[in-house]
Amino acid sequence: MKKVPFIKDLNVKDKKVLCRFDFNVPLSEGKIEDDNRIVASLPTIQYIIDNGGSVIMMSHLGRPGGQAVEKFSLRPVAKRLSELLGTEVQFNGKTVGPEVEEKVKSLESGDLLLLENTRFYPEEEENDKEFSHLLANLGNVYVNDAFATAHRAHASTYGVAEFIHDKAVGFLMMKEIEQLSKLLEKPESPFTVVLGGLKLKTKIPVIKGLAPIADNILIGGAMSFSFIKVKGGNVGDSVLEMSLFDKVEEAISITGEKDKKLHLPDDIVVIDRMEKVESSSPWTVSPAFEIPDGKMGVDIGPKTVAKYKEIISNSKTLFWNGPVGVFEVPPFDRGTWEIAREIGALTKKGVFTVVGGGDTDKVFEDSDISVSYLSTGGGASLEFVSGKELAAFKVM
Ligand code: 3PG
Repeated sequence: MKKVPFIKDLNVKDKKVLCRFDFNVPLSEGKIEDDNRIVASLPTIQYIIDNGGSVIMMSHLGRPGGQAVEKFSLRPVAKRLSELLGTEVQFNGKTVGPEVEEKVKSLESGDLLLLENTRFYPEEEENDKEFSHLLANLGNVYVNDAFATAHRAHASTYGVAEFIHDKAVGFLMMKEIEQLSKLLEKPESPFTVVLGGLKLKTKIPVIKGLAPIADNILIGGAMSFSFIKVKGGNVGDSVLEMSLFDKVEEAISITGEKDKKLHLPDDIVVIDRMEKVESSSPWTVSPAFEIPDGKMGVDIGPKTVAKYKEIISNSKTLFWNGPVGVFEVPPFDRGTWEIAREIGALTKKGVFTVVGGGDTDKVFEDSDISVSYLSTGGGASLEFVSGKELAAFKVM
């Protein structure tokens, strides 16, 4: 990828530094359940303070659909930031407008201000020019450290950068680029990619992008049923993404049937079809290509676990995104934990392992299983490893 300017190349002294972070953190009744993304933003914030700038912070939280929705307010994040930094972080209930401009004017070196959720305005996701301009007017320089949102061309991640000359990426963004690039630039072979979860739309480009350099691509989770179906198997009532079958076919042909680079489950844990998967559901194991009608797959079976673990244990580079079963509902989290533990053992042997995004991150955050690098981005890390230039980097 092209070289992007780094915050250390910018002069932030006495500057109002307009920063985009990804404070899209899980909240429950106003309480932050996981502050990893906030913690990950601290080096950039601290750098600006230490070098004499003031920090104006922007972020989105959730998907409020272009309107102010109290439960998606960033106010709890301002409080958490204050605690972590040991200094006051001012909060503004608006993102743009005269009130914000007044507040920004009064900021002195070392001051910190968090603006309200950018997605309270429809103009954010529309990448509206006027809105981008209003945001840009708040700062003298622009720093983007929101890796997890770097694949979105929104006003605060993209449009704004077109109006500010002095701009750069922050410490988190640089770390993500450096670590994820290691997967793409001469990864040590065998390079194994494990993909699970739903959302085939985001995983197919990864398969296509990594097929030339990966030795093994292991498929699990809900996405595996579309592959099995396309290859002529019976998946019973398991989840399918039929509109993407042509893309699945393409992915299968790219990975090449002959050298067996693409691995599908041999067996699947199945339960009776139901609206919501429950822990108490009686389960059995079925051959992956012969799931009876009325049954749905909820985890990879024991034979598949053993096969995948064997491949993982012989790998020299590894990337994983997406659980291989219904991870939130034990005992259907078993396959995912088995894979995670094998990756942990591999990491301990000194192999470079990367885990990206969402539910798979949680496995490592909630346990002491080792991984070389845990990306803060879900969709963004997938786009990055699929070789696509992320929107935020295009405007740097
Ligand atoms: C994420 O959590 O993946 C990022 O914050 C992006 O969120 P989005 O998918 O709602 O754009």
